[in-house]
Amino acid sequence: TQAPLIDPFARAITYLRVSVTDRCDFRCTYCMSEHMQFLPKKELLTLEELERLCTAFVRLGVRKLRITGGEPLVRRNIMSFFEGMSQHLGHGLEELTLTTNGSQLDRFAAPLAEAGVRRINVSLDTLDPEKFREITRWGTLDKVLRGIDAARDAGMRVKINTVALKGFNEDELFDLTEWCAREDMDLTFIEVMPMGDMGDGTDGTLRLDQYWPLRDLRGRLATRYTLTDLDHRTGGPARYVRMEETGQQIGFITPLTHNFCESCNRVRVTCTGQLFMCLGQDDMADLRAPLRTSTADAPLEDAIRAAIARKPKGHDFDYSRQKVEGRMSRHMSHTGG
Ligand code: GTP
Ligand code: 5AD
Ligand code: SF4
Repeated sequence: TQAPLIDPFARAITYLRVSVTDRCDFRCTYCMSEHMQFLPKKELLTLEELERLCTAFVRLGVRKLRITGGEPLVRRNIMSFFEGMSQHLGHGLEELTLTTNGSQLDRFAAPLAEAGVRRINVSLDTLDPEKFREITRWGTLDKVLRGIDAARDAGMRVKINTVALKGFNEDELFDLTEWCAREDMDLTFIEVMPMGDMGDGTDGTLRLDQYWPLRDLRGRLATRYTLTDLDHRTGGPARYVRMEETGQQIGFITPLTHNFCESCNRVRVTCTGQLFMCLGQDDMADLRAPLRTSTADAPLEDAIRAAIARKPKGHDFDYSRQKVEGRMSRHMSHTGG
């Protein structure tokens, strides 16, 4: 077997996020502009290339694989990829999972569960059908709720991811937490990140306007519940509290006010095969070239090792000084979060 991937700051890289498509059937306002230009299909890695790439990472010590997008379930034939990767479960790979908007879950829940997916993260920012349509630009809340039911019927655990947006879902804080408590689902709030169109004229949405610090959100939760900090980490960026009255855990992902770079265990691959060592930095390594120019795995593995050897210490998003130094022109849907 191979030496594991260790970066210059002694962090073991065991978690890979892979975006399998930049396309999505929604256009969440903080994620995409209304008229997104999607990449030409030939730029995308084929499903076979994606499988070869992910398999190389598993050989190099990746234990957890999270499929993202865009919306991963709109990629044609995506189940063949999940079925292929499920062969590694129990042989190096410990968890195969995805982050989805839920719009296709009613169809995909059962086959995903069959492929060994045990937990999924569903992005949902509001429980109001009108607001849901507004934030996704045309999505149907009901369909997503049916998808969530299907996932739970198939035996999967569901985690809800909610982007905290000032003036948008502030008033739904308790509705969301109570709904998740009732349905026995985990809930994580995410600070909106300065990704994609940044009010440079393309979209006009400067996310600083929507920025709702989770410190404030937490303070509001504390007016109704007793919150206890938990120190356990799941290998993801979230920090957790327990609401003593319900026993429920709530996660907070606070890249802007409290970064978690020191324990970062992850890297991400875009749908075109670019390996980004950090969500908040531009440095990347092209893995599509070694995939396409050679059928041998050594050049690919060498390229991966060389990239990990220059993983930076951390990102430099910074809202606290009222400027967004680390703002990224890349779209979240390209990098997959
Ligand atoms: P689990 O902990 O396994 O549930 O996964 P996760 O929370 O890492 O995955 P998920 O796809 O649900 O990500 C939730 C949010 O965290 C998304 O908005 C991601 O973009 C963001 N996120 C994930 N990884 C990172 C990271 O390394 N840095 C930053 N700043 N944000 C991240
Ligand atoms: N800031 C924070 N989270 C974002 N997501 C997409 N764009 C942003 C952004 N600008 C979230 C989605 C989903 C996850 C994969 O990324 O809501 O939960
Ligand atoms: Fe699609 Fe998710 Fe981006 Fe919304 S946040 S547009 S559902 S990829």
